[in-house]
Amino acid sequence: MNVGGPRFDVVTLFPQMLRDALGYGIPGRAIEAKLARLVLWNPRDYAADPHRTVDDRPYGGGPGMVMKFAPLAAAVRAARANRRDAAPVIYLSPQGQRLDATGARALAAGPGAVLVCGRYEGVDERFIIAEVDAELSIGDYVLSGGEPAAMVVLDAVLRLIPGVLGDAQSAADDSFEAGLLDWPHYTRPEKIEGLEVPEVLLSGNHEAVARWRRLEAERRTRERRADLWDRYFQ
Ligand code: ADE
Repeated sequence: MNVGGPRFDVVTLFPQMLRDALGYGIPGRAIEAKLARLVLWNPRDYAADPHRTVDDRPYGGGPGMVMKFAPLAAAVRAARANRRDAAPVIYLSPQGQRLDATGARALAAGPGAVLVCGRYEGVDERFIIAEVDAELSIGDYVLSGGEPAAMVVLDAVLRLIPGVLGDAQSAADDSFEAGLLDWPHYTRPEKIEGLEVPEVLLSGNHEAVARWRRLEAERRTRERRADLWDRYFQ
């Protein structure tokens, strides 16, 4: 079903932002190696009037502009018609469910999604009712648009696709994968401005190293994230 990896369509007024941001490092490699597909759709291309209007003033008054239904819906419908599957349409919004490691894993394992980026003060609510299956937030703060959120979602998801990371262990060892934060990392030299590498990491004793890393991950989680620590024991 998932041959060629998941496909992500992104509906955005700034397709180049996404293309640029996802052209580097691990996401860039995932797309380059065709382990995932990225297809961009600009609502402006679907605006019917000569000025290619994509936003308008809000009913009820107030500052800011609202993205119009028609160009957004037409772009999403074009993206969906271009896919053979029924991938979910996900609107990036602070009102959505918060992205976490479990959500990222689910997206990496599925067929992909049509991600919709809003701009201005929001989008016409009827677009959400008619076209959106789920809303997804990257945190409790407001961005000026959905694009940085889509980049975050795609960065988090693409690296979880099998074959994207060189070492099969490296995603499994990440923060959150075991419900814990990451342990500390060190590389050469052994001493920097009086700060030394913990002895055990130089010992060559793989069991002792693994034990130390686990304990450090637990300690950090306990100290920094009581919420994760509590869940770890559930
Ligand atoms: N758009 C604006 N703010 C956002 C957020 N916090 N998460 C996802 N999309 C957004």
